[in-house]
Amino acid sequence: MPELLEPRPGAAGRHVGGNTEEPMGHGEMKSYFDEPSLDYAVTDTLIDDGVREELASIAARYPQPRSALLPMLHLVQSVEGRVTPAGIEACAEILGLTTADVSGVATFYTMYKRRPVGKYHVGVCTTSLCAVMGGDEVYARLQDHLGIGNDETTEDGAVTLEHLECNAACDMAPVMMVNWEFFDQTTPRRACEIVDALRAGEEVTATRGARVVTWQQAERVLAGFPDGRADEGVTSGPTSQLGLRVAAERGWSAPDPNDFRTTGDDSAEEAK
Ligand code: FES
Repeated sequence: MPELLEPRPGAAGRHVGGNTEEPMGHGEMKSYFDEPSLDYAVTDTLIDDGVREELASIAARYPQPRSALLPMLHLVQSVEGRVTPAGIEACAEILGLTTADVSGVATFYTMYKRRPVGKYHVGVCTTSLCAVMGGDEVYARLQDHLGIGNDETTEDGAVTLEHLECNAACDMAPVMMVNWEFFDQTTPRRACEIVDALRAGEEVTATRGARVVTWQQAERVLAGFPDGRADEGVTSGPTSQLGLRVAAERGWSAPDPNDFRTTGDDSAEEAK
């Protein structure tokens, strides 16, 4: 992997990252985070006229074109394997934004990657509940098993490992995601079996039924180009539906919202 470099100080409209001793020009930003910025030294790109047309088609879906930036960046990732300077420039040009605007968004959200991602992005939730339910052990075992650290990719380019914040699936803790498909209530052993199967090229199905595709294919779906698999598998598991089941068994039903409507003048009620 090429060394990640900061852009040249003084490059107009570009984000200038940290760790440079050179003087900064007026209006440029300096980052004090360790995370490397975008690699502006790499000029190879797969963004061609066809991709530009697709990016423009995403922008055309929104009343305010700039609202399309997030899915457009997912399309860039599906083509380039990460966010690239060429992808940022294409988004900026189509949306009439500066590259600094686009770069600011791309470097803020953790789903946008500045380094090439492997064929399978494996994320392990290590936020409080998953951590105490075994997420920390799952993550540690995968690190040992794969021989890589956080946000690193195996030498064969197959697996990128990342610890994730809460995936909003706490009832299924500890959860692991592969290319954003859930593997619920996983264990260290099961997690290693899953990555081994992926690296061996076997078809792997997530806990809730969806087949795992490559990270770049999944990114295309996030860009708003359906792959026809939206209905593969279930969308919730038994623990998510437990309250519903208990309510059904006991004959409970939700209160009528009309019982809670007020006349708009609560002061008389409060004065009682
Ligand atoms: S803490 Fe892991 S999904 Fe919420």
